[in-house]
Amino acid sequence: MENKTKDTILITGGAGFIGSNLTEYFLGLDYKVVCLDNFSTGHRHNLKNFLSNPDFKLIEGDIRNLADCNLAVEGADYVLHQAALGSVPRSIKDPITTNEVNVSGFLNMLTAALDAKVKRFVYAASSSTYGDSQGLPKVEDVIGKPLSPYAITKYVNELYAEIFSKTYGLETIGLRYFNVFGRKQDPNGAYAAVIPKFVKQFMNHESPVINGDGNYSRDFTYIDNVIQMNELAMTSQNPEAINSVYNTAFGNRNTLNDLVKYLKEYLSEFDPKIKDVQVIYGENRAGDIPHSLASIEKAKKILGYNPKYSLQDGLKEAVGWYWNNLK
Ligand SMILES: NC(=O)c1ccc[n+]([C@@H]2O[C@H](COP(=O)([O-])OP(=O)(O)OC[C@H]3O[C@@H](n4cnc5c(N)ncnc54)[C@H](O)[C@@H]3O)[C@@H](O)[C@H]2O)c1
Repeated sequence: MENKTKDTILITGGAGFIGSNLTEYFLGLDYKVVCLDNFSTGHRHNLKNFLSNPDFKLIEGDIRNLADCNLAVEGADYVLHQAALGSVPRSIKDPITTNEVNVSGFLNMLTAALDAKVKRFVYAASSSTYGDSQGLPKVEDVIGKPLSPYAITKYVNELYAEIFSKTYGLETIGLRYFNVFGRKQDPNGAYAAVIPKFVKQFMNHESPVINGDGNYSRDFTYIDNVIQMNELAMTSQNPEAINSVYNTAFGNRNTLNDLVKYLKEYLSEFDPKIKDVQVIYGENRAGDIPHSLASIEKAKKILGYNPKYSLQDGLKEAVGWYWNNLK
């Protein structure tokens, strides 16, 4: 019988929300996983279930340091590059650090992956690349001007990935994530994403603040749909699939007011008093676009993407997870 060794995936940002979910999923599928993280926004508790797994290895290091990237990628078959500083407001407050991590760190990882001859480099791109483009739904070929330093960094990632594909022959695939949510997403800190932040506030009977009148809409994307896209991007044998970017979303949009309605409904099943917690409406936030909705036709056609979780399906699961893990 053939003695096949397991393929190894390097997941950068593996201690973060998306990276730790990818780590859990791929360890469950019989891959070896190496995680490179500097714990700047990720958490050790996201990794605690894997530390005793012989197929898991943690490298504490920084993607701004090329030697750390080279060490982490040694022996890897694939890279799923998630490490970055997220958040538009953070990038407005500190564009220099955001650029160092998201652009210089990205370039280090591309270089390390090329030198290590990995089979494919799949990376977290962002819907912020659509910038001020007005059309809905967003299709991959039509982008606008970036609206924040963060959006610039994510667009530069795509430009570098394309050049590395064309110039050096590295296989790359970018996944433009749209407002991802789900288990393990951090509810704490100034730059927390809206869903975990609101869940925690409702659980504490505090009023969440909606920026604007609540009619802005987003294509909220459950983590399991994002895992599916990473797997498809990593394993696709369709030659058309590589050296390209794909919207990674559910393909539906809901307003912030819709979101609050669902959250109150699902959380009230655990604590009926949550029904009475009111939201507060504040100012619109700099760098926010009014509406976001992805076309997922390209991912369906080329990668065979078939997202299973709507906002409501995902929220029901996420709310149960937060109830069990935050209480
Ligand atoms: N969550 C979303 O809705 C969303 C949307 C679009 C794009 N993205 C992108 O997806 C990726 C993952 O996002 P997330 O939501 O899981 O965020 P996260 O903050 O939970 O995870 C990012 C991880 O990267 C690590 N990291 C940051 N800087 C690093 C550095 N210099 N060296 C090594 N590790 C570093 C952090 O410690 C953290 O564990 C990011 O690239 C982000 O820009 C996320």
